[in-house]
Amino acid sequence: MNAALLSAAGLRKTFFSGGRRVAALDDVSLDIAPGETLGLVGPSGSGKSTLARVLMRLIEPDAGTIRFEGRDWLAVRGAALRGMRRRMQMVFQDPLSAFNPRATVGGVIDEPLRIHGIADRRARPAAIGALLEQVGLPPSLAARAIHEISGGQRQRVAIARALATNPALMVLDEAVSALDVSVRGRILELLVDLQRRRGVAYLFVSHDIAVVRAVSHRIAVMDRGAIVETGPAADIVSAPKSATAKALVAAAPRLAFRTPADA
Ligand SMILES: Nc1ncnc2c1ncn2[C@@H]1O[C@H](COP(=O)(O)OP(=O)(O)OP(=O)(O)O)[C@@H](O)[C@H]1O
Ligand SMILES: [Mg+2]
Repeated sequence: MNAALLSAAGLRKTFFSGGRRVAALDDVSLDIAPGETLGLVGPSGSGKSTLARVLMRLIEPDAGTIRFEGRDWLAVRGAALRGMRRRMQMVFQDPLSAFNPRATVGGVIDEPLRIHGIADRRARPAAIGALLEQVGLPPSLAARAIHEISGGQRQRVAIARALATNPALMVLDEAVSALDVSVRGRILELLVDLQRRRGVAYLFVSHDIAVVRAVSHRIAVMDRGAIVETGPAADIVSAPKSATAKALVAAAPRLAFRTPADA
């Protein structure tokens, strides 16, 4: 068997707010193989985004271990951390909204190339054009301001920006949730296609089990800070075992999508 790309064990994270104690992560363990999509689904407040942020090291867990590309990921510091950060990139719902709306598409993609010293100044326009082409956009879009492009184009640009550092793992947190159905379908196809061509692994987080089923090889179901069920995507959808998965499947309008595992 292939060694895991990422392996997390015993993750815990408790938040205290307004005198309330919330166990957002309560002993969570998971593995992601190279080139695999693990779907993470669960009701609102079940801890999906907290888990995504802990794996990205945007927040520190209270307990637990994470190995990523063979290293003790929670112990990596300084220059080694900056180097390894390239290998794990996150895309969330409308990430470009954090930028000045007058920023250009090219500028948004240029930033990681510059910060990580991936291409020198003269090589960067060609690198930006190549990344835009990989996400199905014309290189001429580089000159446009991000407020001028559509929601679907913005999410393609966010994916191009994430790909710029050649990540082994992309964490997608509700990355297609704000898009309407036809645009969403095309972005999901793009993600599957990029995975086939580049071998990138995804942690695909969504509250929508139909969307998760469409792209995932395996699915982990979360509820109240714990993973309550994990298995092949087709099995979770056709024969859910946990009450949480049963409820998500029962509430899903249509589950007729093919998964990459069916192909
Ligand atoms: N910074 C924080 N401070 C206090 N509580 C928090 C914080 N972040 C998350 N929580 C709480 O932790 C729990 C898990 O939240 P989280 O955002 O991880 O859930 P989620 O599964 O991503 O939900 P959604 O589907 O709505 O995005 C919730 O009860 C939430 O209120
Ligand atoms: Mg969330």
